[in-house]
Amino acid sequence: MRVCVIGTGYVGLVTGACLAHIGHEVICVDNNEAKVKLMQSGQSPIFEPGLSEIMQDAIQANRLTFTADLSAGVEHGEVLYIAVGTPALPSGDSDTRYVEAVARGIGGCLNGGYKVVVNKSTVPIGSGDWVRMLILDGIAERQAEAVGAGSVATRPSEPEFDVISNPEFLREGSAVLDTFNPDRIVLGGNSDRAINMMKDLYAPIISREFASDKSAASVPVVTTDLSSAEMIKYAANAFLATKISFINEVANICDRVGADVTQVAKGIGLDSRIGSKFLNAGLGWGGSCFPKDVSALIHTADDYGYEAQLMKAAVEVNQRQRSITLEKLQQVLKILKGKTVGLLGLTFKPDTDDLRDAPALVLIENLTRLGAKVKAYDPIISQSGMRHGLSDVLVETDPERLADGCDALVLVTEWEEFLKLDYKKMADLMDSPILIDGRNFLDQPSLESFGFRYVGIGR
Ligand code: UDX
Repeated sequence: MRVCVIGTGYVGLVTGACLAHIGHEVICVDNNEAKVKLMQSGQSPIFEPGLSEIMQDAIQANRLTFTADLSAGVEHGEVLYIAVGTPALPSGDSDTRYVEAVARGIGGCLNGGYKVVVNKSTVPIGSGDWVRMLILDGIAERQAEAVGAGSVATRPSEPEFDVISNPEFLREGSAVLDTFNPDRIVLGGNSDRAINMMKDLYAPIISREFASDKSAASVPVVTTDLSSAEMIKYAANAFLATKISFINEVANICDRVGADVTQVAKGIGLDSRIGSKFLNAGLGWGGSCFPKDVSALIHTADDYGYEAQLMKAAVEVNQRQRSITLEKLQQVLKILKGKTVGLLGLTFKPDTDDLRDAPALVLIENLTRLGAKVKAYDPIISQSGMRHGLSDVLVETDPERLADGCDALVLVTEWEEFLKLDYKKMADLMDSPILIDGRNFLDQPSLESFGFRYVGIGR
């Protein structure tokens, strides 16, 4: 099928490249010309395992192209994805300016045949109908212009389209893998024609043709109304964020009573009603989705006169959790002024270069405020030269240089490579070998055998 994806952020680019990979003809549209040029050369502007490879294959096969021309994309696509950003406003509401501009833009150049417009961005509940209205506005404006410019005969015919909500659940760092191995596909809308087109589009994914386990049962497709589909995305993220805040709260109690949260998580996670995933206690959740989506849902509830108490508490627990490592550093080092603290990891989670709402940033701010010197090593950030928001940190090029002269290390992000560092050598290089494991990631007995004083979260 012919597909147009508008917006080439994490969601748009991964969706476009993966749809091209499974055989569709995809045009990705972005208004940033420099980015378009970069992608045309097969390079991904974001770090995402496997993405550049499938982009290059699809470009070679002539199934993936990039343009800054929205009308060319809209003309090409039978299915038009809106995948532009919906960042959080200071109020916590979503900023839907970009969705609005794109929807009007689609209306302004929608042509001939039937099209499905897919809301892929995480949009406030009710946006499906709003997008439909904006597209109709765009069509009306264009028709008015055509009538103004000439005879009624030049008035374009009313294009036919339907809006579908198709939220994504991909995780940064495993976005390509997640796209080919989804737990479910959610399609919201009231047009059978559009829903059936979407099922055809996703057929190879539904049948697990590109999955890691091709023999697994086909992917469940949840078809529902627009608002429920939009709500599914918010509720899923709010539930997962709450689950993490819950285990972090348990960890804080464990710390006080002398229990080990990793054992507790194992013990409760084996209950199939609870499940073992997303029970890793640590520095709390960050990134571009959880904070934005949970606060947007709280605000939507507020707008409709309901106080989402549990979700508000999940956010508060998460904020408090960010100062846990600072408190632990103060307990072991006492005065932080004049001390040097080294951070292992900066990104909000491993396998990404994303620093948005990363717990490391709050820690850096607090340590600097208290007069400590902060150094950091991160497998991606150290190499990338990316230093935005990191002016108070000395970013080291390797873990041993990081350890050199430190009074304590804090593991902030659970990068796989941190399991294999030469901790013996690092302990020797430190002024005092203390390690706060903010993700309960490392092996306590072996670190202690190298001379480290090990402090975990809730253990
Ligand atoms: C999330 C959702 O998982 C995904 O479905 C949605 O589409 C976008 O938001 P992502 O933000 O990429 O994906 O990261 P995820 O792997 O879910 O982790 C979110 C945060 O929770 C990270 O800060 C991570 O460190 C934290 N986390 C996760 C924990 O603290 N403990 C856990 O057990 C799991």
